[in-house]
Amino acid sequence: MWSYSKTQRFTMWWSMWMLLPAVVSPTSSNWQKAVDLMKQAPLIDGHNDLPLQLRILSQNRLSDINLRNLNSTKTNIMKLKAGHVGAQFWSAYVMCNAQNLDAVRLTLEQIDVIKRMCESYEEFQLVTSSEGIAQSNKIACLIGIEGGHSIDSSLAALRMFYDLGVRYMSLTHTCNTPWAETSTVGVHKFYLRNISLTDFGKEVVKEMNRLGMIIDLSHTSASTARAVLNISRAPVIFSHSSAFAVCAHHRNVPDDVLRSIRKNKGLVMVNFHTEFVACKKTATISTLADHFDHIKKIAGAESIGIGGDYDGANGFPEGLEDVSKYPALIQELLRRGWNEKELKGVLRANFLRVFKDVETVRDNSALLKPSEVEIPTEEVDNPCRLNLKKFALSGRNKVPSMVTDTSRLAFSLCLFIALVYIW
Ligand SMILES: *[C@@H]1O[C@H](CO)[C@@H](O)[C@H](O)[C@H]1NC(C)=O
Ligand SMILES: *[C@@H]1O[C@H](CO)[C@@H](O)[C@H](O)[C@H]1NC(C)=O
Ligand SMILES: *[C@@H]1O[C@H](CO)[C@@H](O)[C@H](O)[C@H]1NC(C)=O
Ligand SMILES: [Zn+2]
Repeated sequence: MWSYSKTQRFTMWWSMWMLLPAVVSPTSSNWQKAVDLMKQAPLIDGHNDLPLQLRILSQNRLSDINLRNLNSTKTNIMKLKAGHVGAQFWSAYVMCNAQNLDAVRLTLEQIDVIKRMCESYEEFQLVTSSEGIAQSNKIACLIGIEGGHSIDSSLAALRMFYDLGVRYMSLTHTCNTPWAETSTVGVHKFYLRNISLTDFGKEVVKEMNRLGMIIDLSHTSASTARAVLNISRAPVIFSHSSAFAVCAHHRNVPDDVLRSIRKNKGLVMVNFHTEFVACKKTATISTLADHFDHIKKIAGAESIGIGGDYDGANGFPEGLEDVSKYPALIQELLRRGWNEKELKGVLRANFLRVFKDVETVRDNSALLKPSEVEIPTEEVDNPCRLNLKKFALSGRNKVPSMVTDTSRLAFSLCLFIALVYIW
């Protein structure tokens, strides 16, 4: 008969208790591992729409809102910290309905609110470079504009947005611009012909390469994405899109484009929105992880990042309800055998590489002059645009005509109606 001393019995009990968690719930150790990984490699997230919520909640009056504990949104400072977010691209998004109206002003107002937000909380730091992200020990703030309608077909406006600190632009939102095509067909009536990327669109791509502004292909049609990937000298990103092969939604990236992204050394930052993850209103972390596995298989682990789309979308997978929950995804990827290097890439290193490459292309473009190409007038003809006629070069005494014949005609007509009315 076996008999144990008191000490032996104690040791047995003790080791049983110590082993229990590992046997019963292997994931609880993965949770700690996920959190440790994220402490070493805080997340750089590609897309968050909190600035849109600021517009909706308070007309951008930050004084009405406490961002530390705001809880009608998926994002606040406490949650960002709990989620180990080290850098966030805030979206300066303006709805497509503003195209050809006041999109440029509204975009400026969104950039303004992002800057004020990041300057008025000590937890944030506004940065504009890969070095800035790497050196910040706060939550680094970056600005992206979502939709080419924000530049009103003007390379000058694009350059000024860069000067204001904008570091990516999605070429479209849910509407076509005069020069690029959206993946969302039928919602808006702007520029309905299928244009992929026009000559002016190619000029936008070249100018973004020269400036060092990251090209974002989320929301563009696959045909536009292919055309851009065909000519961009720098890596490009999808700031918030998932895999089409897992959920056949037009916002997701098809496999041939994933293969081009691998060649381009670009990045797909996976979107968490349930409609893009599962093609329905509910989704699990496991389905989301399927997107990561698929993109890894086709584009490689070096071409994956995270762009949660919090506060821009309404449905999120169970267990990933807000920005404090990111470790739950890393935990699931650990469970599926992703290694530490791959995960640090997904969280941080892959984006930093892309951003540095984009900056290198800019630095190597020092000899290129700012593009003076203008979009052909007939491609942007709309009532909200005052078309300045080209200055006459000959005849020094000629006063340059400021308006086109059409607007002069419109003016005469109004004057005529007014006179008739008065008479
Ligand atoms: C947060 O939500 C609770 C209810 O869940 C509410 O009582 C509280 O006032 C909210 N805090 C803020 C700062 O909005
Ligand atoms: C544009 O392409 C879409 C498919 O991407 C098609 O459904 C639509 O009919 C095309 N429109 C035109 C005007 O060719
Ligand atoms: C890519 O570029 C080549 C060479 O300029 C061109 O023939 C081809 O049509 C382009 N493909 C796309 C998808 O734009
Ligand atoms: Zn979006």
